[in-house]
Amino acid sequence: MIIAIDGPAAAGKGTLARRIAETYGYHHLDTGLTYRATAKALLDAGLPLDNEAIAEAMARKVDLAGLDRTVLSRHEIGEAASKIAVMPSVRSALREMQQEFARREPGAVLDGRDIGTVVCPEAPVKFYVTASAEVRAKRRYDEIIEAGGSADYDAIFEDVKRRDERDMGRTDSPLKPAEDAYLLDTSEMSIEAAFQKAKSIVDAALSRNA
Ligand code: DC
Repeated sequence: MIIAIDGPAAAGKGTLARRIAETYGYHHLDTGLTYRATAKALLDAGLPLDNEAIAEAMARKVDLAGLDRTVLSRHEIGEAASKIAVMPSVRSALREMQQEFARREPGAVLDGRDIGTVVCPEAPVKFYVTASAEVRAKRRYDEIIEAGGSADYDAIFEDVKRRDERDMGRTDSPLKPAEDAYLLDTSEMSIEAAFQKAKSIVDAALSRNA
């Protein structure tokens, strides 16, 4: 079983993906971390972010077992990741790894931007999780405040919009819903309600295949 979850930054797809994976005992891969790990390796080595051959070589060295969300969640790593994510050879190197992961038994949940459209177009269950830019910026703001940090809502809002433009506007594998994806708009739906809805769709797919 492969479950593909796509959507813009901070829409709640990571939380949803983790809960689905836990519920069904499937493997989970946040594919954004593979782009982030590539970017971090370049930053750490003091290498340029605009050289596709160098970035591809770094992408090929990414170890899926060593992806550390805490380290990779840093803002500047996300910025750098969105720059190298426009490079076709970086995308194809990471895509091969992601496709291999998707074949793990008994099933895999992958979340990202192009899972249902490009990485696993054959996935029997696809979700496109979205929410308005205002709601997503507010969620990110609340997370930082709850963690005891300080944040500027307007700056976060601008950042969310800029990230959307970059993700949706690139030529190679832009962010968009697959034609057969279920749309989950979490603007006015709690993540819990989205999870319940997603679960009923996965259950229905599993009973069709049984
Ligand atoms: O979801 P995130 O913020 O961790 O993603 C980091 C960057 O990687 C983001 O700019 C989009 C890009 N990305 C991508 O292009 N394709 C994916 N499947 C996942 C992430």
